[in-house]
Amino acid sequence: MYKDIDLDNIDLTQEPPTQEPQRQYYFMAKMREIVKEKSKELGRPLSAVAVTFGCQMNAKDSEKLLGILRKIGFEIIEDESADLVFFNTCTVRDNANQRVYGRLGFLHSMKKKNSDKKIALCGCMMQEPSVIEKIKKSYSFVDLIFGTHNIYKFAELLTTMYTSERMVIDIWKDTDQIVEDLPSERKFSFKCGVNIMYGCNNFCSYCIVPYVRGRERSRNPKDIIREIEQLVSEGVVEVMLLGQNVNSYGKTLEEPMTFAELLQEVEKIEGLERIRFMTSHPKDLSDELIQVMKNSKKICKHLHLPLQAGSTKILTAMNRRYTKEQYLALAKKIRTEIPDIALTTDIIVGFPGETLEDVEETIEVVKEVQYDNAFTFIYSKRTGTPAAAMENQVPEEVVKEGFDKLLKVVQETARERVSRLEGQVQGALVEEINEHDNSLVTGRLSNNTIVHFPGDASLIGKIVDVRLKECHGFYYIGELI
Ligand code: SAH
Ligand code: SF4
Ligand code: F3S
Repeated sequence: MYKDIDLDNIDLTQEPPTQEPQRQYYFMAKMREIVKEKSKELGRPLSAVAVTFGCQMNAKDSEKLLGILRKIGFEIIEDESADLVFFNTCTVRDNANQRVYGRLGFLHSMKKKNSDKKIALCGCMMQEPSVIEKIKKSYSFVDLIFGTHNIYKFAELLTTMYTSERMVIDIWKDTDQIVEDLPSERKFSFKCGVNIMYGCNNFCSYCIVPYVRGRERSRNPKDIIREIEQLVSEGVVEVMLLGQNVNSYGKTLEEPMTFAELLQEVEKIEGLERIRFMTSHPKDLSDELIQVMKNSKKICKHLHLPLQAGSTKILTAMNRRYTKEQYLALAKKIRTEIPDIALTTDIIVGFPGETLEDVEETIEVVKEVQYDNAFTFIYSKRTGTPAAAMENQVPEEVVKEGFDKLLKVVQETARERVSRLEGQVQGALVEEINEHDNSLVTGRLSNNTIVHFPGDASLIGKIVDVRLKECHGFYYIGELI
């Protein structure tokens, strides 16, 4: 676990250590000198901003990068006028990529007015060679590019960037290393994501994640527990255990351990009140996990169980390794064991070969499972994945028709399902002042549903009882009890 290191004790006249993370501490000390000098020149603090795209993994990575930036003396701001802007990118669907290119154009015009401005790009998109080619050619004003496997080297990469005139690029194809014990920032003081594993070995045929995040690696359980204990001692009451497929946690450890066993260890941590996790692959969800969830006092009553498609033909082509019937049986088993659980899901429409009849099968599953929420995506062709080479890509109009139909059913069923709690009193973790009305606060129920109710900032970070008065689609208006 990272204990605040004293950068003053590092001797910069020596060569940098070869061992990690000591090597990064050395570069943090060095960068701190550079930041001091630059700030003196400019007569103001150097500022930095993180712009994060994509999933919780990226959000967590950005917190790590911000932790380092703060430690070396940057002022963290929320504005792209900052002296250092970094984009932590996502490439799961093409629209995420397009947004990055659009924003880069805008940054270029800002950079022309501030010659000290630096632009860094990292994250999943940078693991694609075609992206790097494009940036080199059309966005040559970018100062630093690195990938998902070497973010722990951020301090070292920044030092290289600030001491060189050229674009610095460092991308690794894969890694088997997990470097711990670096600083990290937290967006919320009371809840925090915790990586339990990195990478993915599933190779769903549409998905680029295994190519850009590398092979599956589980963190040592002792390190995970120590990290959570430390977080709890700092006031965290809710953790979200993060992995692309948490149900296969621990398989590659020297002393294998199941995800359910890890959860039981996390449950024992005194002071921790809520445990969440993301994401569960249906093929690996064990009976042991269902029992552990059922008997737990801390694991939230919510399971995100991506369906992707309801037709077995499409599921097979997607390489999901379950059938429609197996998925339905699993959902039923979970609902029987834990009746009040909220199930949410991800669905893709327009996978190669998918017909409107196939989409009808997806709709059937949605109606039967009764999700509390479903994220619906239009299939996006990702270069290098098996599905991109499939010949039967679906015409846009057919995709749109299926998508609209599905969305309607998803919204109707979710509305009905979410409203079942009307009138009940439930515990809500208060997260923030409501964005639109500052007489309200926004809290989250164990089952992940949002509730807005009258309250003030003193409630933030507390779990309070709230009466769920009115359901408005996906959220509630409530009152404090
Ligand atoms: N590991 C997680 C998902 C990570 S990506 C899991 O297996 O559930 C998040 C979601 O993006 C996926 O569940 C899927 O629905 C969607 N997705 C992934 N690749 C996609 C693609 N090529 N086109 C459209 N949606 C995609
Ligand atoms: Fe992608 Fe499938 Fe891995 Fe999820 S499990 S990250 S969808 S390959
Ligand atoms: Fe996107 Fe990478 Fe997450 S591709 S969804 S940010 S793992």
